[in-house]
Amino acid sequence: MSTPETFYDQVGGEATFRALVARFYREVAEDELLRPLYPEEDLSGAEERLRLFLMQYWGGPQTYSEQRGHPRLRMRHAPFKIGLAERDAWLRCMRIALDEVELTDEQRDRLWRYFEMAAHSMVNSWF
Ligand code: HEM
Repeated sequence: MSTPETFYDQVGGEATFRALVARFYREVAEDELLRPLYPEEDLSGAEERLRLFLMQYWGGPQTYSEQRGHPRLRMRHAPFKIGLAERDAWLRCMRIALDEVELTDEQRDRLWRYFEMAAHSMVNSWF
């Protein structure tokens, strides 16, 4: 019996998440609000962590947790001041990336709804 196809498989697997996250970080690199939040000069480590996290979240390989342990994303974002402006800037970058990756409308909507919810849950500064 074959295992059912995951959303990760349906959208094209690793190549799709690689393209999405690479495009996202090209936008972050140019964003005056977001770029200073990233502690490392080279964004490639951050890019790899987000790519592996998303691949795992959507049913792909569990490499993120093998390397980083339980995601605990709210806790991992606690050191960074994330207000509504930072949330909106993050979503702006992701919207651009999402619109450029080859997906069906349904797949794009599903990913976007998730990103809106997840970005909102990362807000840790309300004033
Ligand atoms: C890490 C900012 C939302 C997933 C980070 C880092 C920053 C950051 C500064 C540290 C970079 C690094 O790993 O070197 C933000 C801001 C957000 C946001 C400003 C606005 C709301 C999100 C969302 C997700 C996410 C919505 C998931 C859908 C991750 C992951 C890491 C990370 C997986 C790496 C965690 C680790 O393993 O250390 N983020 N983030 N972030 N972010 Fe975000």
